[in-house]
Amino acid sequence: MQIRQIPAEERPGAMFDLAAYAFESSPWPEADKETYARRMPFYVTATGLVAEEDGQVLAAVTALAMRQNVRGVVHDMAGVASVVSHPSARRRGFVRQLLTRLLEQTREQGCVVSALYPFRPSFYGHFGYVGMPRVRTATFAPEGLAHLVRAELPGEVERLPFAAAFDEFDALTLRLLEERHGFAVFDETRTAEFRERTKRWVAIARSGGEVVGAVIYRIDEYGGDLIAEDLLTTGPLGRALLLQYFARHVDQVARVTMKIGADEVPDLWGTDFAVVTEGRTDYPKHGGPMVRLLSMTALNGLHTRADLGVTVEVIDDDLLGGRYRITGEAGTLTVEETKDEPQATLTCAGISALAYGVLDPVEVVLRGFGQVDAGAVETLGALFPKQMPYLFADF
Ligand SMILES: CC(C)(COP(=O)(O)OP(=O)(O)OC[C@H]1O[C@@H](n2cnc3c(N)ncnc32)[C@H](O)[C@@H]1OP(=O)(O)O)[C@@H](O)C(=O)NCCC(=O)NCCS
Repeated sequence: MQIRQIPAEERPGAMFDLAAYAFESSPWPEADKETYARRMPFYVTATGLVAEEDGQVLAAVTALAMRQNVRGVVHDMAGVASVVSHPSARRRGFVRQLLTRLLEQTREQGCVVSALYPFRPSFYGHFGYVGMPRVRTATFAPEGLAHLVRAELPGEVERLPFAAAFDEFDALTLRLLEERHGFAVFDETRTAEFRERTKRWVAIARSGGEVVGAVIYRIDEYGGDLIAEDLLTTGPLGRALLLQYFARHVDQVARVTMKIGADEVPDLWGTDFAVVTEGRTDYPKHGGPMVRLLSMTALNGLHTRADLGVTVEVIDDDLLGGRYRITGEAGTLTVEETKDEPQATLTCAGISALAYGVLDPVEVVLRGFGQVDAGAVETLGALFPKQMPYLFADF
C-alpha cells in the first residue's frame, strides 16, 4: 500500500466514489460527480491523502484548513473529514496509517489543533481525540416570547437572502472566532463556497450600526416550522433582538427550532417561556465533535487566571509525548520542555480535555486519560478551569 497526497482536481476521480458510497444514498446519479467536480476550487487548500494498492484508491482522508479559538488564542486547525475506506479494504489498518500521516503533515503545515465529527468516538479515541459538546436545539412556539414583541430594544433586525448577507455574516463569524472559546471557521477558500448558498434567509441584528447577531434560517410552510441554524450573537442584546424578530412570527409559524451552544440556557429567556432544549447524540450521524492538540505549543498564550505551575508528562502520543512545565503568569499560560519529575501523567486526550475545558482533572482521571498527584489536582484545575467550547463549524 502506498500513501499519496492528491491535489483538489484529482479528488473527483480518486475519492468521489469511495466517499459517495460511504456517506450518500446510493447508487447516486452520474451528475453528482460533475457537481462535486465543480466545487473543487473551494478545496485547493485542503490536504487530501489516499492509500493505493495496484493503482486503486482503497482509502482516503482529508484535512480542511481551518482556524479555532482555544481559550482566547486563535490557532490553525486541521478539520479532519472524508475519512473513508473501501469495504473490501476495511480493518487492514489503511485508515490508521493515513490519519497518522495526516496529523503529522498538518502539524508540519502549522496546525497545532485538530477537530472532527466522529462516526464513533472510540475510533478517534485511539488517535488522541476527546469529545466536546454537540450543539443543542431549542424548540419553542413564538407565543412564548410574547413579552418581546413590543419591547423597545436599541437595535433592529434585517432579513436578507444569504448571498446578500454573506459579507456581514462572515465578518460576524470572524469576530466570534476572536471572542468565543472553541469557535472554528474554514479558511477563505472554503468559506467562499457558502456565498452561493440559496434558499436561506439571514436575520441580521444591528445596534448602533454594528452587527450584534445573525441567524441563518428557512420557513418550511405557513403555520409550520421556522428552522434556524446557529444562534450567533456578540451578547445578550443581539440575542434579544433576534428572539424578538422570531417572536414577531407568532401568527405565521407554529414552532421555531434553533441550534444553540451548550452554554445557552433557553429556559431563562423569558418568564412563562415553554421550550424544549435537546442535546441528542447518536452515531454515526449525530456525534458531538472531537478535538485534540497536535502540538504542546498550542498551550502558549491561552488565557488563565491562575499564577501557578505544574509539571506533566504526556504519554502514548508521537506528536505530544514528553515532559512539560506549564506555567500560568499574568493571565496567560506558557509551556516548556523539562526533565523534572511529573506531577501528572496524561494521554493526549487528557491534556486536550483540559486545554479545551471539557473535563476537570478528576474527570480526566476517572475517564482513564491519566493520573494526577493529589497535590496537583487543584493546580491543574485552576490553570485549566472548565469552560464549555462551542465549535460552530459543521464539516
Ligand atoms: C470507519 C472506517 C473509515 C474505518 O476504516 P478501516 O479501514 O476499517 O480502519 P482501519 O483498519 O485503519 O482501523 C483503524 C483502527 O480502528 C479500529 N476500528 C475500525 N473500525 C472501528 C469501529 N467501528 N469502532 C472502533 N474501532 C474501529 C480498527 O480495529 C483499528 O484498530 P487497530 O489499529 O488497533 O487494529 C470505515 O469503516 C468506513 O469507511 N466507514 C464508512 C465511512 C465512515 O463512517 N467514515 C468515518 C467518518 S467520521
